Amino acid sequence: MQIEAVKAAYRRYAGIYDALFGPVLQPGRKAVLEALKLRAGDRVLEVGVGTGLSLPLYPSTVQVTGIDLSREMLDKARKRVARRKLANVEALHEMDAEAMTFPDASFDKVVAMYVISVVERPARLIEELHRVCKPDGEIFLVNHVRSENRLVGSIEKGLARFSDKLGFHPDFELADMLNGSGGVDELARINFFWKVLRLRNGYNARKL
Ligand SMILES: C[S@@+](CC[C@H](N)C(=O)[O-])C[C@H]1O[C@@H](n2cnc3c(N)ncnc32)[C@H](O)[C@@H]1O
Repeated sequence: MQIEAVKAAYRRYAGIYDALFGPVLQPGRKAVLEALKLRAGDRVLEVGVGTGLSLPLYPSTVQVTGIDLSREMLDKARKRVARRKLANVEALHEMDAEAMTFPDASFDKVVAMYVISVVERPARLIEELHRVCKPDGEIFLVNHVRSENRLVGSIEKGLARFSDKLGFHPDFELADMLNGSGGVDELARINFFWKVLRLRNGYNARKL
């Protein structure tokens, strides 16, 4: 999706996002937080942090930075941080995850939950995740799994032409981009649609 379409979609979603995608996507957020195995002092970057639904899940001993393209989604996240007094949230920036302004090797852990199938150039995003992650750091994703069920698969395909309106690509599958490089570990399958993945450093995605 092009940047302006993403911004427009999430401007529309911001007010209703938590009701629509709060509880339903929370198992994936929780699974990532478990998989991260955070240690005191870790610096974490969450790209596409949205309304900050994951932020209360981080331990108070780590420092979290969130970025998002959508000002309206970030406004909600900022309100949540204030309301919940989340002192471990260092910063929330309006920033494009495909062209981040952080120096190389800034973070111990980098997280993207429900984001890869939204951005305009997923391969570019993955390059950026690697760049800002420390060489001994780790990258975690919650990513869409294309359904093996023929009926659900054809619904996903049919919905693909409404990607701009929906705010994500319903038929996107990260495995298509990884070129059989073996650079990805599947850590958990949340349900039919989503799984938790860890990207190994040094492996980038194939440019489609
Ligand atoms: C489906 S929402 C997921 C939000 C959050 N991670 C969650 O768990 O609810 C996708 C988010 O990615 C953001 N996004 C899309 N493209 C982006 C980009 N290029 N850079 C930063 N954020 C982006 C959208 O604005 C939106 O907030």
